[in-house]
Amino acid sequence: MILVLGAAGQLGATIVERLRRRTGAPEAAALIALTRRELDVADARAVGDAIRRHGPALIVNCTAYNDVDGAEEDATTALSVNAFAVQAMARGAAEVDATLVHYSTDFVFDGETDRPYREEDRARPLSAYGASKLLGEWFAADAPRHYVLRVESLFGGPAARSSFDKIIAGLVAGRDVAVFSDRIVSPSYVEHVADATLALVSRRAAGGVYHCVNTGATTWYDAARHIATRLGAPQSLLKPVSINDVTLRARRPRYCALANEKLRRAGVSMPRWEDALTRYVDKTLPGIGS
Ligand SMILES: NC(=O)c1ccc[n+]([C@@H]2O[C@H](COP(=O)([O-])OP(=O)(O)OC[C@H]3O[C@@H](n4cnc5c(N)ncnc54)[C@H](OP(=O)(O)O)[C@@H]3O)[C@@H](O)[C@H]2O)c1
Repeated sequence: MILVLGAAGQLGATIVERLRRRTGAPEAAALIALTRRELDVADARAVGDAIRRHGPALIVNCTAYNDVDGAEEDATTALSVNAFAVQAMARGAAEVDATLVHYSTDFVFDGETDRPYREEDRARPLSAYGASKLLGEWFAADAPRHYVLRVESLFGGPAARSSFDKIIAGLVAGRDVAVFSDRIVSPSYVEHVADATLALVSRRAAGGVYHCVNTGATTWYDAARHIATRLGAPQSLLKPVSINDVTLRARRPRYCALANEKLRRAGVSMPRWEDALTRYVDKTLPGIGS
C-alpha cells in the first residue's frame, strides 16, 4: 500500500493522479492519499498513528511549508512541517518497515558557485525555510530506506500556481512581466518529477539524496523568453530584474542549478528544461505551437 501525504499540493496531486492511473480502479485501496484536512502533519503523534494504521510499504511526503519569506517570521511552523513532521514519518517508516520518499529544495545551498550543485556539495542555507528543509533531509535519513529528492522552481500542478504560471498568464494577457535575469535555476516539471520518483522506487535504486530536476540550467529571464517564443508573445513584455534590486524578507541563492547525473546513473533520465516548459505550455494552452 502507498501512502501519499500532502495529496492536494502541486506535486502531491500529480503523484496521486499518476498512481491512480497506474493502479486502476479495482486496486484503488492500494493507495491512501491524505490532504491537510485529513492529516495535519504538524501533529507528530497523528502522523505516527496514521502510518501504523495503514501500514504502507511506501510513504510519499508531498507536504511542505513553502512560504519562503513567511518562514523568516514563522520559523516554528516551517520547522514543524518541513522538519519535525519528517522525523515522525521516518520513525513511522522504521516501525512498519516502509520506504520514505521526501522532497527538498535548492534553497539548502547558498548559491555562491558557478557550476551546478551536486548532491555531495556542502549545504549552507541562507534562510529559515532552507534550514528547515535541510533538517528535514537529515530526519528523512532515519527511515530504513529513504529517497530525498531535491527539486526547484517546480511547475505544472493542477492548480497552476507556480511562478511559470504567473509568467504565462501575464504574457497571455499582454502585461509586462518582471523576471530575474541573474537567478540561475534548473526548473522541475511535476510530471517528470512524479515519473522519476516512481521509477527510482520501482528500480529499487540506492537510497539517499538525488537532484530530481529537469536537465540543464537557465536564468528565469531566459526561461520566460522560451515561454514567450512558444506563446508567440512579444519578448518586450519581459522586464529583466536583478536579485540585487529587489528587497525580499528571505535571502535567495543566486546560482542554484542542480546537476542530475546521479539520477541518470541510477537509470532515470530527466528531459531538458526547454522540453519540459514547451510540453507544459502546450498542455496549458492547447493549440499553441500547432
Ligand atoms: N514549489 C516549488 O517551487 C518548490 C521548490 C523547491 C522545493 N519544493 C518542494 O517540493 C515539494 C512539493 O512542493 P509543492 O510545490 O507541491 O508544494 P505545495 O503545492 O505548497 O503543496 C504542499 C502541500 O502541503 C500541505 N501542507 C502544508 N502544511 C501542512 C500540514 N501541516 N499538514 C498537512 N499538509 C500540509 C499544503 O496544504 P494546503 O494547501 O492546505 O496549505 C499543500 O497541499 C515540497 O517538499 C517543497 O518544499 C517546491
